[in-house]
Amino acid sequence: MNGIRKLRLVVLISGRGSNLQALLDQSASGELSAEVAAVISNQPGVYGLERARQAGVPALELDHRRFADRPGFEAVLIELIDRYSPDLVILAGFMRVLTAGFTEHYRGRLLNIHPSLLPKFRGLHTHERAIAAGETEHGATIHFVTAELDGGPLIVQARVPVLPDDDPDHLAARVLEQEHRLYSQAIRWLAEGRLKLDVERVWFDGEPLREPLQLADFV
Ligand code: GAR
Repeated sequence: MNGIRKLRLVVLISGRGSNLQALLDQSASGELSAEVAAVISNQPGVYGLERARQAGVPALELDHRRFADRPGFEAVLIELIDRYSPDLVILAGFMRVLTAGFTEHYRGRLLNIHPSLLPKFRGLHTHERAIAAGETEHGATIHFVTAELDGGPLIVQARVPVLPDDDPDHLAARVLEQEHRLYSQAIRWLAEGRLKLDVERVWFDGEPLREPLQLADFV
């Protein structure tokens, strides 16, 4: 594809996997120069695993409750992931906190999507909190993952307006629609070599990134 190398992705999920589905679809259509090599869920039986199977992608379960502690879980998770030699590890609704041992192992190749305009609203219930705070804009962010929860270097955001009569479900649905376009953009930039993480700093087109990129500027 235009001389761009296809990236191998391992996608980690904990639930329904709609972001995973977007990646599977974009990969199948050739829109995304990447292939999903495997999907791993820490929650057994979730629908995202079924989506992977339907796409012919290995779907693995690794129940974190089987392990005494996080490092024990993560050691096996790393072993599973590395069997597939991924270029990138993609967190797509993966709802486990990761330790520095894990995030350092995948430094610069571990991405997360978070449903807020980080650094606002780290953690859970972001849509409720954005409405309660009287925000007029909300959205989603792709960032490199470090051991700081939802705190790694920001890459790209998509914004949606918060409407006067919004409720968390409607707002979440509009943000999710944007989420489904965000990962493909970030992965494309990484495949093209336009985007890099160097120690703590994100580089885009050879310049250090001072503010997260905005999806609206590229579509
Ligand atoms: C997405 O909204 C994603 O941004 C969020 O979980 C949802 C997963 O949906 N992730 C986080 O909150 C991570 N802190 P999906 O399973 O349909 O892709």
